[in-house]
Amino acid sequence: MTSPNILLRPVEERDLELLLAWRNSERIRANMYTDHIITWEEHRSWFERLTRDKESFAFIFEAEGRPLGVVNLNHMDRANNRCHWGFYLGETDAPKGSGTQMAYLALRHVFEELKLHKVIGEALAFNSASIAYHEKLGFSREGQLVEHVFRDGSYLDVICFALLSRDWPRVKASLEKKCL
Ligand SMILES: CC(C)(COP(=O)(O)OP(=O)(O)OC[C@H]1O[C@@H](n2cnc3c(N)ncnc32)[C@H](O)[C@@H]1OP(=O)(O)O)[C@@H](O)C(=O)NCCC(=O)NCCS
Repeated sequence: MTSPNILLRPVEERDLELLLAWRNSERIRANMYTDHIITWEEHRSWFERLTRDKESFAFIFEAEGRPLGVVNLNHMDRANNRCHWGFYLGETDAPKGSGTQMAYLALRHVFEELKLHKVIGEALAFNSASIAYHEKLGFSREGQLVEHVFRDGSYLDVICFALLSRDWPRVKASLEKKCL
């Protein structure tokens, strides 16, 4: 069996244009907490904050040398050994299974490099793809934040998910079967 050529690498200056195009696309904005069109200046300030911030990381997911998506790790809490993750595939023609490959690399980083105890994911309640994705990956549903996000004149519910380090070996084995 040949391993796919996949990696996560930190976001760099050269990625900023592509990232902004992805983030401002209708498909991605629809699933984010904030859905306004992000300006170049806002985007640059985000990147400058990111380079200074010790509690947030952003990674490009590449397959066969092509950037396909992004993973953000933020709210890094070293006292409680947990962080939040956020992600999306920016390219609409990413091969099926790309999301699972991206998650495998991100979770391996969280549990094996950062050695965290818990990773938390949040999805808007209407985002059935993200909810199914978290469940398929092995996250547990921890609850629902009611009317948590105000967008376009209405309050939206958020579903909370988490994965613990003790579950990582089992999840890792199952993801490796699927995506390596
Ligand atoms: C969520 C996302 C990363 C999944 O990527 P993907 O490449 O489709 O994922 P995979 O092909 O590896 O599929 C993994 C699982 O995700 C779920 N899934 C993916 N697309 C789905 C869809 N359109 N509807 C329902 N479930 C879906 C399924 O459970 C799937 O497993 P299955 O095919 O065995 O049923 C991708 O759809 C995405 O970037 N969405 C837009 C941004 C977004 O919502 N980000 C999350 C914000 S919380």
